[in-house]
Amino acid sequence: MAATPGHPVSVDEVDFFDPATQEHWYPSYDLLREQAPVWQMPGTKTYVLTRYEDIHEVLRRTDIFLRGASESTPSSGASTRIKDIYESKGWPRRSVLGSNPPEHKKYRDIADPFFTPFGSEKRRGLITGIVDDLLSAMVAKGESEFVKDFAIPLPVRVITAMMGFRETDIPQLKVYSEAWVLPFRGGLSPEEEVYAGEKGVEFQHFIHATMQEKRANPDDSVISYLVNEARFDGERPLTDAEIINMVDHLYIGGNETTTFALTSGLWLALSTPGVYEALRANPAKVKNFVEESLRCESPTMGMVRTAAVDTEIGGVPIPKGSNLHLRYAAGNRDERMFSCPATFDLDRSNAPRHMAFSLGETHCTGAGLSRLEQNIAFAAIVERLPNLRFSPGRNDFTHHPNVTLRAMKELWVQWDAPRSAC
Ligand code: HEM
Repeated sequence: MAATPGHPVSVDEVDFFDPATQEHWYPSYDLLREQAPVWQMPGTKTYVLTRYEDIHEVLRRTDIFLRGASESTPSSGASTRIKDIYESKGWPRRSVLGSNPPEHKKYRDIADPFFTPFGSEKRRGLITGIVDDLLSAMVAKGESEFVKDFAIPLPVRVITAMMGFRETDIPQLKVYSEAWVLPFRGGLSPEEEVYAGEKGVEFQHFIHATMQEKRANPDDSVISYLVNEARFDGERPLTDAEIINMVDHLYIGGNETTTFALTSGLWLALSTPGVYEALRANPAKVKNFVEESLRCESPTMGMVRTAAVDTEIGGVPIPKGSNLHLRYAAGNRDERMFSCPATFDLDRSNAPRHMAFSLGETHCTGAGLSRLEQNIAFAAIVERLPNLRFSPGRNDFTHHPNVTLRAMKELWVQWDAPRSAC
């Protein structure tokens, strides 16, 4: 046990499942990066990678490092128990967007046009309208819990509209969404696994019902496109199972992590001296602010690959079938890539080279959309909330314990509210 919780002094003390580590990831990452950059987690066949270049190399070699885990590990997304529930009560759980080459690209070609920077631009009006709505509801109050009032509703409302779900269904969709990401936390009880599986299947049936509606009444939503127009490899229509697996991945990807990015971004803006004022003085800096925030506080700490052959990384032998835990958040703080990596630098010129969205062929589908949402949001926040500051005494700045995702529990902020006219 480390003398200071979450601050190991030797590699033997690193424990990814300790809530103190999960609150303070960076000391463990720093230690591993320097002393054991390819670290076999004790008692497992999982190797943890923390250097930018090692991770990048694995991402490049999509022929031998495959998606998913060969055994159930946190970040593999689902246990055998959860998969069985899907098989028996719904549609088999198979992430087609998270599949392997060569079919992977064929699915990505179908989904990507909606979410690239170019495709997302078509939703600028939608995003700006929601941002304005949310801020208008906040401005006069002078104080807000930012996660609940802004960081959750913005991406949820955007992706709900894009997929073609009804806004009135958001409370139910949010329940599905939180259940879907539950396995990424790690250490679920059997009851929690059953809950995650049951809610996942309910979500599948919900998506299926929406697909029937869009078949009968086509519109410009993603689901309508998938059921009425999309062709796999330019030839055949997608099956219902393929569409359901694409939609649940896009819907969940589309909301949870952007919430975490918005919250961590605001925390960085307010806790790093001079940053909020610099953004107010020069909103053109918002673009790099978003990139530097994603680098410093990556919402997805890491993801898993499996070695398809016996191989080696950085001189460490990796037997076939091993899991590789790519810690993107650790790569983002590798000083070989980013100078003074623990410093938030608004003007860092290579900030966009972070791996918060992963890199290469399997990088995040929704990076373009999420970036646009964050850019529009922060530009409007700095304009409309003057003298923004943390609410005194209301924050402990802690995160939900989670081995994969980094989500601040809440963030109370105050600003100078406009005086009432009467
Ligand atoms: C700040 C927000 C986001 C972060 C940090 C993030 C992070 C990531 C990362 C790291 C991956 C790669 C996983 C891997 O290595 O296997 C990924 C994949 C993916 N993300 Fe995101 N994501 C975000 C937003 C979104 C949005 C808005 C969407 C959908 C609209 C989305 C949908 C997806 C999908 C479908 C994949 C699988 C892509 C593939 O495997 O080809 N994400 N995301």
